[in-house]
Amino acid sequence: MRYLKYLDKYKINLENKIIVVTGANSGNGFFVSLQLAYYKATIILSCRNESKAQEAQERILKEVPDAKLFIEKIDIGDFENINDFVTRIKKNYGYIDILVNNAGVYYSDNTMRINYLGSYYLTKQLLPIIKERVVIVSSLVYRFGKFNYANLLDNKNVTRAYFNSKLAVYQMSIYFASLYPTIKFTIAHPGVTATNILKSANNKMSNILKSAGSNFLKLFTHCPEKASLSTIRAVIDDCANLTLYGPRGLFTISGFPQKEKPHKVINKNIDKLIEATELLIK
Ligand SMILES: NC(=O)c1ccc[n+]([C@@H]2O[C@H](COP(=O)([O-])OP(=O)(O)OC[C@H]3O[C@@H](n4cnc5c(N)ncnc54)[C@H](OP(=O)(O)O)[C@@H]3O)[C@@H](O)[C@H]2O)c1
Repeated sequence: MRYLKYLDKYKINLENKIIVVTGANSGNGFFVSLQLAYYKATIILSCRNESKAQEAQERILKEVPDAKLFIEKIDIGDFENINDFVTRIKKNYGYIDILVNNAGVYYSDNTMRINYLGSYYLTKQLLPIIKERVVIVSSLVYRFGKFNYANLLDNKNVTRAYFNSKLAVYQMSIYFASLYPTIKFTIAHPGVTATNILKSANNKMSNILKSAGSNFLKLFTHCPEKASLSTIRAVIDDCANLTLYGPRGLFTISGFPQKEKPHKVINKNIDKLIEATELLIK
């Protein structure tokens, strides 16, 4: 682990805390899980691909041999699958302390469904058994979100769909925070970092372009492990409800985390978003 000095500064012990991390096998979710395991939390690695989850589990155990890790399968783009996941969580664990809504895609045919609707549905089902906190992984592009409420899952413009998904998860946290005053909601964004999110792009972009984009990002941005520290702070800090964390460098693209002032767009028409969302999950 590269940032032990940073982690040790906070003197955190999460022993006996049960934390669900979605998309725990790769990128941000992997490093968040690794670092929370270092803080002694019990992590439920919640992934859609079991063999990738097992690989992640082995990688974490190499660095934190006494890590308490469980694997639970979830496809966040599928309501039935989320229902099964929630049933297993209730049966196997009874409750969870913290939910980290991290799983996400960039270019996909289902960006809003996976990044937003699935996270909304999952959070809604789990909230009655969450004891402490829900962490939302958004993006610095949330500020560019602009919805077509009549067609919330519109995917014609894939970049717009990604921006929208990242504003939607932010607004969802504000809505759920109003319903559950005893649970803390925090938001994090990792800045920009080269993870598998570009490579997994299900679009017409050629593999050469994807790889070039990824290498370009590696040169000019921080590494995924450092990028994940914003999410770590959103999990561990004793902060005000709805605190936003992001990197402190230029344009909040890279650097160690800091608290950020949210853009005013976050409070725009939340009721319209929720109304449109509820119609889609009926
Ligand atoms: N990288 C960046 O620069 C950046 C910037 C801002 C925000 N973010 C956010 O950070 C979060 C993590 O992304 P990342 O950059 O770490 O990308 P990543 O390495 O591609 O990780 C994404 C994770 O989400 C999982 N996932 C995708 N679709 C899923 C589904 N339908 N059901 C369950 N899990 C699913 C992936 O599983 P598979 O491995 O099976 O595909 C993977 O574990 C995302 O919410 C993303 O929007 C990233």
